[in-house]
Amino acid sequence: MRYILFLFALAYLPGRAQQGLKDYYRGYFPVGVAVSARSLTGPDTNLILRQFNSITPENAMKMGPIHPEENRYNWKDADAIVDFCVRHRLRVRGHNLCWHEQTPAWLFKDANGATVTKEVLLQRLKDHITAVVGRYKGKIYAWDVVNEAVADDSTRLLRNSPWYSICGEEFIEKAFEYAHAADPDAQLFYNDYNTERPEKTERVYQLLKHLLAAGVPITGVGLQGHWSIFEPGPAALRTTIHRFAALGLKVQITELDVSVYPWEKQRRQHRPDENDEFTPQLEQRQADQYKQMFAIFREEANGPAAPAHGPLTGVTFWNITDRHTWLDDYPVLGRKNYPLLFDTNGQPKKAFWEVVNF
Ligand code: G3I
Repeated sequence: MRYILFLFALAYLPGRAQQGLKDYYRGYFPVGVAVSARSLTGPDTNLILRQFNSITPENAMKMGPIHPEENRYNWKDADAIVDFCVRHRLRVRGHNLCWHEQTPAWLFKDANGATVTKEVLLQRLKDHITAVVGRYKGKIYAWDVVNEAVADDSTRLLRNSPWYSICGEEFIEKAFEYAHAADPDAQLFYNDYNTERPEKTERVYQLLKHLLAAGVPITGVGLQGHWSIFEPGPAALRTTIHRFAALGLKVQITELDVSVYPWEKQRRQHRPDENDEFTPQLEQRQADQYKQMFAIFREEANGPAAPAHGPLTGVTFWNITDRHTWLDDYPVLGRKNYPLLFDTNGQPKKAFWEVVNF
């Protein structure tokens, strides 16, 4: 009997030990990660290739970094990421084509420093999207076309960004139309955060329903998934996925991380009496949250192994390991966070094993 067990271990375990998230979830959905160009030539490269089969450029394709001046594009980092993905046969999610943050200084101003007209801004948006989407046509399967256009203020639908104040809501449909014209085969997503909070779910739903009724070419909705050990609960997560699926949209989790602290809206300084160590209690709560979320992801998945033909077609983590996360010093300056599946040494945490042991 022992010999048989030994043979089984010999045959089975090394393969499973070598398996990554992408292998465990091959029959469910692609598992992605947000990267910078430098992370593709550093200590995390092997981890990225073992664990993930989809890549999102964290910053390299945003308007400011890729199009810093009206007549100058900076393709270097975006090209490096796309070339890496083509070489290793990884999917690419383009991020993002239209956002109120990381916009270049020239975008909203004319040569005299005055605010541009709606016609000028829409033409600039069209030129930008045509150039960027056109450059990667056939290499990027999905784009976050418009990011975070719905207001945080629940008394209004759209954020009062320069996009909105200059163009009204038309910039949203135009962004999708320009992206579709540049690459008709690309999947086009509207991407936002806090989408599981019922009042924001409803506002995002109303926006997307309105756009779809107008024939705007939207394929899916990106739930960013900047969550915590405190939220969302399983009911809110399921309800949100089902709400958008009812519009006929694909759903993706596009920026997943699970903070070990509650959400805070205002930035502040970390207080000396606050502890920012990753305690065993926090690790267990985070493992429980990830386990619960991925059980729902599997239920809602679109892949052949999923129990039903669900709307969920991808899950992407935002950053690779706890060594670097955008949540370090945000929103609390001086505070370390531990939101991902791999620790500061790139080793799997309890949460990783809860996600893959199903
Ligand atoms: O590259 C410059 C560097 O040259 C300069 O010296 C340095 C200091 O100013 O800034 C560097 O750029 C920073 C960039 O990250 C790259 O590190 C920007 O200042 C900084 O604002 C930018 O932060 C990014 C943030 O979006 C911008 O709002 C984060 O890395 C990125 O994780 C975060 O990602 C967003 C998603 O795109 C949309 N959803 C929310 C998510 C978190 O905010």
